[in-house]
Amino acid sequence: MEWYEKEYFEKLSTAENMIYDRFREKESLNGKWHYAVDQYDTCIRQKWNEENYYDEGGNSLPVDFSFDEWETMELPCSWNTIDRMFKLYDGSMIFTRKFLYAAQNPGERVILRIGAANYLCRVFINKKYVGMHRGGSTPCYFDITDFLEHENRIMIQADSTRRNDQVPPSNTDWFNYGGIYRDIELIRVPELHIKDFRIALKPDGCFNKITASLRMSKPINTSAVLTIKELGITQEIKVTDGVGETVFSASPELWSPESPKLYDVELSCANDSVRDMVGFREIRVKGMDIVLNGKPLFLRGISCHEDSVTHGKALTDEERLENIRAAKELGCNFMRVAHYPHSERMAQLADELGLLLWEEIPVYWEVHFWSEDTYSDAENQLTELIKRDYNRASVIIWSVGNENCDTDDRLKFMGGLAQHARELDPTRMVSAACLVNYKKNAIEDRLEQYLDIIGLNEYCGWYTAEWRMLPELFENSDPKKPVIITEFGADALSGHRGTITDKGTEDCQAFVYKKQIENIRKIPYIKGMTPWILHDFRCPRRTSSIQNYYNTKGLLSADKKHRKLAFYVLRDFYLELAGKADD
Ligand code: GCU
Repeated sequence: MEWYEKEYFEKLSTAENMIYDRFREKESLNGKWHYAVDQYDTCIRQKWNEENYYDEGGNSLPVDFSFDEWETMELPCSWNTIDRMFKLYDGSMIFTRKFLYAAQNPGERVILRIGAANYLCRVFINKKYVGMHRGGSTPCYFDITDFLEHENRIMIQADSTRRNDQVPPSNTDWFNYGGIYRDIELIRVPELHIKDFRIALKPDGCFNKITASLRMSKPINTSAVLTIKELGITQEIKVTDGVGETVFSASPELWSPESPKLYDVELSCANDSVRDMVGFREIRVKGMDIVLNGKPLFLRGISCHEDSVTHGKALTDEERLENIRAAKELGCNFMRVAHYPHSERMAQLADELGLLLWEEIPVYWEVHFWSEDTYSDAENQLTELIKRDYNRASVIIWSVGNENCDTDDRLKFMGGLAQHARELDPTRMVSAACLVNYKKNAIEDRLEQYLDIIGLNEYCGWYTAEWRMLPELFENSDPKKPVIITEFGADALSGHRGTITDKGTEDCQAFVYKKQIENIRKIPYIKGMTPWILHDFRCPRRTSSIQNYYNTKGLLSADKKHRKLAFYVLRDFYLELAGKADD
């Protein structure tokens, strides 16, 4: 942290600042914002937000900004996709616009919600510093009520600089899109409002009880009412010191990928009320089985990045639906949305269309596992993700990271995250994508003790040439928990054909899938797989002639127009499994 930044790391917005907001009325601040590239952090150094145009003597001062004469950019967006000039830009940009505000209800609070800004964002309103958020893929909330006048200027710094002490660290195998890339909205709530609302089927194997809990913005004693009209349920919940919870009998139609039944749920307390559309299902591990609503299942999955040729990380719903449709065409019932929280729209659409999800925080490769500050950043991102998606039936697994060497610091860091996830949410499984123990060529990672399900990334046939290593790996292993093969795959340039040993051809990729499936399908402790990856994605580390700054392990081309041969190999396997599942 530089000398000039210190005060601007104060007022950190965290999961504590979140409010429950799905279906709340929102006033959008999306649209044209004036902006400037701020490579040297001049805005913070010179305090542009204070707009010091005159000195104490009233003499005008030269300033290095002209907010309302700057060019404009349509927000939300990933700025790297807006203009060739910003294609590779990692750093700060300053965004500003004006908006009018008039109070509607006495005592109302006005919350600014930013769906996501990568990596950190700082908010200023009417010359004053409001606060900052770090974490490039989770929403942040700021109570801006006391900063508001009738005519307001908002200024947001978005800083996508990659830093090794961040989560993820500076080196990743995906492109670091910068910007404020999800919706920017104002939400008006009563002073006394519902901050958190959780509801789920009680995971006791009986499928006949619903648990619900709420937290109010103040420690009041009152009661709340939960209504599920379609089930004829009106349930009173006693609220003590602002917190209430209840368990009550209910026999909802269970949610599943094949039958994604959602119920309209309403919660009211004091003079606030919120709604949600909720699926009721139970996911658990029973011995070596992953069990959904009491039935063991095989997770027929695929991995997916949040990456669009046109929009970067700022996917449209249409692009998300395209990914879900492609996954369903593959015969998937499961998707690993890697390596960071995708938009909440992904889990909402998966709820509606019936797809199980693995969601993940970007504790990726060489994280500063010894750093307490890095841990609190990771833990906050995990908490924000769980609070955001807790009511999503599609989400069944929280993943605390990907491909991290088994060291003491990493064990403490990721073991702590796994325990935190379980404390926050006892209704889901906790996992991580672990590395093969290469010394032993076995599935053996001390983190397993903290996990319900073991994720394993293995690239036999690609990074490990010898095919005999794969059966030996499975032979050498004796996992005590279900395993999901969270990554295997091979690069293939769309349309590039050759022999099965010509690396980079579709024929070679298809052969890798065939051999992987041949081996995996024989192993009883493997209960799922999410091959790497649905579609090609931007990656600065991949510069060979078959990659051209893309990771080309996709089963689809980056624009999703081309299906590679391996798409059909995986689809045939999954449709065969699906057929068996229906028996
Ligand atoms: C790793 C990593 C991915 C990466 C992939 C690859 O396992 O988890 O993020 O893209 O391998 O090498 O293509």
